[in-house]
Amino acid sequence: MTGNHVDLRSDTVTRPTPAMRQAMAEAKVGDEQRGEDPTVNALQARVAALLGKEAAVFLPSGTMCNEIALLVHCRPGDEVICDRTAHIITAEGGGPAALAGAMVRALDGEGGVYTPEQLADAVRAASRYAPRSRLAVVEQTSNQGGGTIWPADAIEAVGEAAKAHGLLLHMDGARLMNAVVETGVDATRYAAPFESLWIDFSKGLGCPVGAVLAGSAAFIEAAWQWKQRLGGAMRQSGILAAAALHALDHHVDRLAEDHANARRLADAVGALPQLVLDQPRVDSNLVFFDCAGTGLSAAALSEALRAKGVLIGAMGAHRLRAVTHLDVDAAAVDTAGEALGAVVGG
Ligand SMILES: Cc1ncc(COP(=O)(O)O)c(C=O)c1O
Repeated sequence: MTGNHVDLRSDTVTRPTPAMRQAMAEAKVGDEQRGEDPTVNALQARVAALLGKEAAVFLPSGTMCNEIALLVHCRPGDEVICDRTAHIITAEGGGPAALAGAMVRALDGEGGVYTPEQLADAVRAASRYAPRSRLAVVEQTSNQGGGTIWPADAIEAVGEAAKAHGLLLHMDGARLMNAVVETGVDATRYAAPFESLWIDFSKGLGCPVGAVLAGSAAFIEAAWQWKQRLGGAMRQSGILAAAALHALDHHVDRLAEDHANARRLADAVGALPQLVLDQPRVDSNLVFFDCAGTGLSAAALSEALRAKGVLIGAMGAHRLRAVTHLDVDAAAVDTAGEALGAVVGG
């Protein structure tokens, strides 16, 4: 809930629980930049182990994880290949161009998931004319793709194609743990083909701030220099890392509830003939739908819902996205379904 509203705009709207705040208050801290914050050090070691990588670094945001990975992997003029819906294209302020100086080549995947053949076709032959194809990016789960989970074998096939063409591989794992909980596939298996990947703590895991980027020891050493250069190096950030450790202990398994609630909401949307779900099957905690059949724009529908106490974001002229999370339960989802029915006249 945000105020009196059922807030389904994003899983970033969660507030730290009282138990998380308690863990933060009790955190042992030191100077992170000097490697002296025991809680940050513990979080980094825990995420590195969770993802099966040599090392990890705590960063303020997932966006910084993506941008630093591109900075470490690419030289200016290099090309990064990803799905056309990728966060690095749609929502990082042109960061790949502005920071790493990288070009981005967008693939037309299915629900944010592209094939090894599409990747291989996009790789440019080495020549003095063409940019160097350098890095492929996978987003797990695919946000704008509809919360789609990349199956482990699809990831492995893309990993093999990347290797065969000399590409490095990076995962935007903002919602990797949603995929892990939904499928039961180990995080280390999803992570194995990647030179770098990260998980976000400020989304479904319910923390106020923070993401952790993992990779080889050499990659993380280079990432640290960019963290420092960009002003992302912090001080007694163990207070934030304590929230993330608490989330790993208490907020991972419960992501399954968010997925069940998303399906509950999708059922309510699907029952209204004026609304069309993007995907018949909801993989995780994101529900996208089209409202063209209501005669209303997405913005107008979103406003009408707000007046009924429900917040759902407009993502295009007629596309909306509802996101389930820690702060909405099944009853809140039912309230949202009833408000949708009342507004579209179902
Ligand atoms: C797929 C994806 N990648 C990256 C990000 C950026 O994460 P942050 O908000 O922590 O910068 C988001 C945030 O919504 C996201 O959905």
